[in-house]
Amino acid sequence: MMENHRIYFDNAATTRVDDRVTEIMLPLFAQYYGNPSSLHSCGTQAKEILESSRESIAGCIGANRDELFFTSGGTESNNWALKGVAHANRERGRHIIVSAIEHDCVLNTCKWLAEEGYHVTYLPVDEDGLVDVAQVKEAIGPKTILVSVMHANNEIGTIEPVEEIGAVCRDRGVLFHTDACQSFGKIPLDVTTACTDLVTINAHKIYGPKGIGALYIRKGVRIIPLLHGGGQESGMRSTTENLPAIAGFAGAAQLSVTEMDREARRLTALRKTITGHLSSAFDNFYINGHEKHRLPGHLSFSFHGFEGETIRLLLHLDDSGIAVSAGSACSSNDKSHNASHVLKAIGLNPFEARGGIRISMGRFNTENDVTVFLETLEKAFQSLTSIFSDSLIYSGSR
Ligand SMILES: Cc1ncc(COP(=O)(O)O)c(C=O)c1O
Repeated sequence: MMENHRIYFDNAATTRVDDRVTEIMLPLFAQYYGNPSSLHSCGTQAKEILESSRESIAGCIGANRDELFFTSGGTESNNWALKGVAHANRERGRHIIVSAIEHDCVLNTCKWLAEEGYHVTYLPVDEDGLVDVAQVKEAIGPKTILVSVMHANNEIGTIEPVEEIGAVCRDRGVLFHTDACQSFGKIPLDVTTACTDLVTINAHKIYGPKGIGALYIRKGVRIIPLLHGGGQESGMRSTTENLPAIAGFAGAAQLSVTEMDREARRLTALRKTITGHLSSAFDNFYINGHEKHRLPGHLSFSFHGFEGETIRLLLHLDDSGIAVSAGSACSSNDKSHNASHVLKAIGLNPFEARGGIRISMGRFNTENDVTVFLETLEKAFQSLTSIFSDSLIYSGSR
């Protein structure tokens, strides 16, 4: 059994399930285990839980309950949004626009669609990771059917101007999808004010269970299902619904939305403590992503000239019981250890783009965690300095 870290700073990868969410889920395994499609009372009871969960999550993003469809997570929702819209609208056009810093599940879906004959435009971002709305406008042509730009980036935490992008798409009659896996429950998102036609969300980034997500599909959007079968989810996504996870997702979403403002203020303050300390202690410290338009508890940073030592630093922190990440969790599946496509897109060279450190704080992190992290990081630096004295500039704690 893996030993629990004393300090878990990798909440962008996934989160610990909140005890209040576990409590909601437990009765659904042994008590309310009916199939929502069954006509007997066990089924109708399950159906009620399914529909009230749907209504509750839809309400968190200003959607109607018949516009929210459960999926197995963010990856499936993103695949469905892109493939489903592409196939349903191919007579209208075969052009799709995405940002260059989307999650791999969007980029790899685009790669697949390109092999199917679709044309994909990858929008560049500026040095803070922001998509330029004027470039979205310019890229839209008569054959464009879909624009997909994430709400907040998983690696650098930058929040994209989705309201403005959505307005441009609405004006031009093009569908707009946003991947909100990192932002949902952390910063506000309203599907109507953001002019979104499709929104991806999931539960495991907000202290809910893994393996459950949803796709918001605005009424009237032309999209085909990925899964065909017994006709669940109004025929849009067949398979028996994962009710414990769905109820947990709803509980997690409600908690996150209710606690959002207070939590955002608390995590922003913790993040500022870290950036303030590191920028004064290390002359070579720099932040990746936007300084202001970023997720509250999310910090991506590097040390100039020291990017090659990031993994060693992470292992050092891990040995001391602190879990942080190099780039995104998914990029660690990349056996060739390629440089991060996100860090390259914001202008870092391939060497620098291998050296990002990501701290993502969450509900269970405290001020004391930050203090211990900073002390441990300094010690790790001191020990690595003795090996690599030329490669870093450590000016000590000030
Ligand atoms: C921005 C973003 N999109 C999509 C996903 C994939 O979500 P899931 O793990 O639920 O498939 C993630 C999770 O890493 C993410 O951060």
